[in-house]
Amino acid sequence: MDDFRTIIEPFRIKSVEPIRLTTKKERAATLERAAFNLFALHSDEVMIDLLTDSGTGAMSAAQWAAMQRGDESYAGSPSFFRFEAAVRDLFPFKHIIPTHQGRAAEKILFSVIGGPDKVIPNNTHFDTTRANVEFTGARAVDLVIAEGKQPSLIHPFKGNMDIAALERLIAEVGPARIPAVFVTVTNNSGGGQPVSLENLRAVRAVCDRHGLPLFLDACRFAENAWFIREREPGQRHRDVRDIVRDMASLANGMTMSAKKDGLANIGGWLALDDEAWAERCRNLLILTEGFPTYGGLAGRDLEAIAQGLEEVVHHDYLRYRIRSTEYLGDALLAAGVPIVVPTGGHAVYIDARTLLPHIPPLQYPGQALAAALYLEGGIRSCEIGTVMFGLAPDGTEHPAAMDLVRLAIPRRTYTQSHMDYVIEVVRKVAKQASELRGLRIVEQPRQLRHFSAKFGRA
Ligand SMILES: Cc1ncc(COP(=O)(O)O)c(C=O)c1O
Repeated sequence: MDDFRTIIEPFRIKSVEPIRLTTKKERAATLERAAFNLFALHSDEVMIDLLTDSGTGAMSAAQWAAMQRGDESYAGSPSFFRFEAAVRDLFPFKHIIPTHQGRAAEKILFSVIGGPDKVIPNNTHFDTTRANVEFTGARAVDLVIAEGKQPSLIHPFKGNMDIAALERLIAEVGPARIPAVFVTVTNNSGGGQPVSLENLRAVRAVCDRHGLPLFLDACRFAENAWFIREREPGQRHRDVRDIVRDMASLANGMTMSAKKDGLANIGGWLALDDEAWAERCRNLLILTEGFPTYGGLAGRDLEAIAQGLEEVVHHDYLRYRIRSTEYLGDALLAAGVPIVVPTGGHAVYIDARTLLPHIPPLQYPGQALAAALYLEGGIRSCEIGTVMFGLAPDGTEHPAAMDLVRLAIPRRTYTQSHMDYVIEVVRKVAKQASELRGLRIVEQPRQLRHFSAKFGRA
């Protein structure tokens, strides 16, 4: 393999799902019916579904086999203990609490540690994380480094936390109001950009000085560790597992969506060392998710995650994963499409604000571009910008830091020819960029509006 440039998919396909090929005329009607919100599409109306990499990946034969031995006992299932051992092998926290997905872990943790007056710093809160923090009355503060907010600026670790800004925030509000500091690896809302070990160590040092716990939002921990291996001095010879363990050793706990680097279609967990918090979290878990040895999951799901954690840290898998995302990013860059650089781990983020300078942020250039990609080629993507982040808890609306369109790549699901098709479609839409028009919101909920808002032409 070392003699060749092409990095092949390190798997072959045993089971296929058909894609229904649609016409532009059909998609125009579908888009009107969905009120320009791609979450309202039926998935069989989509040809290439890049809405999310969450829970949409293909499982391996070994995962399907492991599911067969799933033990569905209410309490004390061996499937739970296999899951717990697999998590603990990488993240040796004292308490490992399974949840049905990442946001359930967030909801439970922030119900325990959040509340009015509390402040949670993060490099960038993901939408559900922010919503769960704010739901308790706490304030979610994003402190990613300045480079992380400039799509065209190259930096190896654009997900890093701004250490000086973290110090300033602690000085301003006082450590007593900060129950925990969070770092999201990789930084999904900032372009799937990684956080370095050096930066995590610096955050840890700040936390130590002020007696604060550090939590990881670890959804894409393996992709983050691969970037550390590739880009951080002195890491290239290391096993990714050991890099993951280093990341874990700097934290006091984590929230996790196993729908990403758990390589599973559902699942998540909350892990932490603190006894008192763990007890309160388990009590809430029983109220909302289930008994602590299944936590909202079937035994077979726990088995799929345990096997997924074994596979996600394979170097051949991670090399292919990161390179195939970069393949899409490189092709769009070569075509002059502005994207967040360097390409992130799980997705390519098109900079819609730069591509559509004639559409003001409050007419949602990201949403307009996502709708155009669907209309032109049946590709479903996701706006990560003013629709997602622009509505403040007090009901006012402001432009988000960036207006991005995320092309998220499901794990082990699409081939290179699918990506070549995506490249052609994006190129065509980018050529017609000046003809695209903005949108306005005609109906929306107060929280997480991007999932259900209805749009009309501006
Ligand atoms: C960084 C990050 N945190 C949390 C979540 C929430 O996880 P889930 O979708 O499993 O609830 C996501 C999901 O996309 C995410 O990307």
